[in-house]
Amino acid sequence: MGYRIAVVGATGNVGHEMLNILAERMFPVDEIVALASRKSLGTEVSFGDKTLKTKDLDTFDFTGWDMALFAVGSEATKKYAPIAAKAGCVVIDNSSLYRYDSQIPLIVPEVNPEAIHDYKNKMIIANPNCSTAQMVVALKPLHDRARIKRVVVSTYQSVSGAGKEGIDALWDQTKSIYNPTDNPPMDQFTKQIAFNVIPHIDVFMEDGSTKEEWKMMVETKKIIDPSIKVTATCVRVPVFVGHSEAINIEFEDHLDEDEARDILREAPGVMVIDKREDGGYVTPIECVGDFATFISRIRQDSTLDNGLNLWCVSDNLRKGAALNAVQIAELLGRECLKKG
Ligand SMILES: NC(=O)c1ccc[n+]([C@@H]2O[C@H](COP(=O)([O-])OP(=O)(O)OC[C@H]3O[C@@H](n4cnc5c(N)ncnc54)[C@H](OP(=O)(O)O)[C@@H]3O)[C@@H](O)[C@H]2O)c1
Repeated sequence: MGYRIAVVGATGNVGHEMLNILAERMFPVDEIVALASRKSLGTEVSFGDKTLKTKDLDTFDFTGWDMALFAVGSEATKKYAPIAAKAGCVVIDNSSLYRYDSQIPLIVPEVNPEAIHDYKNKMIIANPNCSTAQMVVALKPLHDRARIKRVVVSTYQSVSGAGKEGIDALWDQTKSIYNPTDNPPMDQFTKQIAFNVIPHIDVFMEDGSTKEEWKMMVETKKIIDPSIKVTATCVRVPVFVGHSEAINIEFEDHLDEDEARDILREAPGVMVIDKREDGGYVTPIECVGDFATFISRIRQDSTLDNGLNLWCVSDNLRKGAALNAVQIAELLGRECLKKG
C-alpha cells in the first residue's frame, strides 16, 4: 500500500527535482499526478521510467489524495494550498508563505523531525528557504555539543534559486556577451548576472537588509533555537545550481576544530570533505544531483574565544527544496500517515 501524491508545479525546477527524487528514493507511490498552470496542460514530465501528462491545478480535486508537494510560489500557494488542505490532503509547501506561521511546522528532517506532529494544526507543513536548509543541517550537531551564540554567514547563491527564469537569464546573458547580435536578454536580476555578483536577493527591508537575509535569521531560530543570533549577507552568483555559504560560528563552549570535524562526519545529511591541500574542498558544481550538504574548510577562528569557520555547499534544488520536501513526506508517512 502506497500513497496518492500530487506534485504541484511539476514543470518548474523544484517540481522536476521532486519527481526525480520521489522515483530515486522509491517513495511508496500508489498514484502520482503532475500539476501546473493551464498553459502547461498536457506537458510531459518524467517520473522514473514513466511519463506523466501535466494537469491543470485550477480544476484539480484533491479529495482522496494523501499529500501534495507544492512548488509554485507564494501567490499560487495562497490560492490552492488551503483548497488541498481542506480536502484532507497534507500540503508540504516550498514557498515562504507559511514558514513564519507559529501554527505551521517548519521542518528539516535531520534537525527538528519532532515538529512533524504539528501538521494536524492546519494540514500544512513548510519547507525552509534553500540557504537556511543547508545551513541548519550543518549547525544543529555543533549546537548540540557547544551551544551556538551567533552566526555570521555570507552566501553565494546560484541562479536556479530564482526559478526557471533565473537559469534562462544567466544562459542568455552569457551568450549575448559573446554574440552581441542576439536578442537582448531579459533582466530577471537587478544587475547583470553573467560574469558578475549581485549582493541583493528578494526585497529590501526597512533596516537595509534583504528579505533573504531576514529569512535565514528567522528560520534558523524557528528550526533550531530562538536564542541563536544570525546575521547574513546573501549574494547571487553566476552559478547555475548549488548554493555555497561561508559560515562563522561563535559558541558558548570551546569546540576544537578536530572535534567539530568528527561531529560533522557523524551528522545525518552531512558529508565532510576537508583536506588542507589544493582541491581538498567542495565547490557547487560537484554537489549537483547529490543529496548531501557538504562541509569543507573547517578551522578555528582565532579572533574569537570559541569560534569556528566553515564552508558549506549543497544542491539548492535538492536539499534546499525538493529533497527536503520528499524527506518530510517520508517522515510524515513513517510517523503519522502509516499505510499497510
Ligand atoms: N529554486 C530553489 O532553489 C528554491 C528553493 C526553495 C524554495 N523554492 C520555492 O519553490 C517554488 C518553486 O520554485 P521553482 O524554482 O521551481 O520555480 P519555477 O522553476 O519558476 O517553476 C514554477 C512552477 O510553478 C507553476 N506555477 C506558477 N504559477 C502557477 C499557477 N498560478 N498555477 C499553477 N501552477 C503555477 C509553474 O507552472 P507553469 O510551468 O505552468 O507556469 C511551474 O511549474 C517557489 O515558491 C520558490 O520560492 C525554490
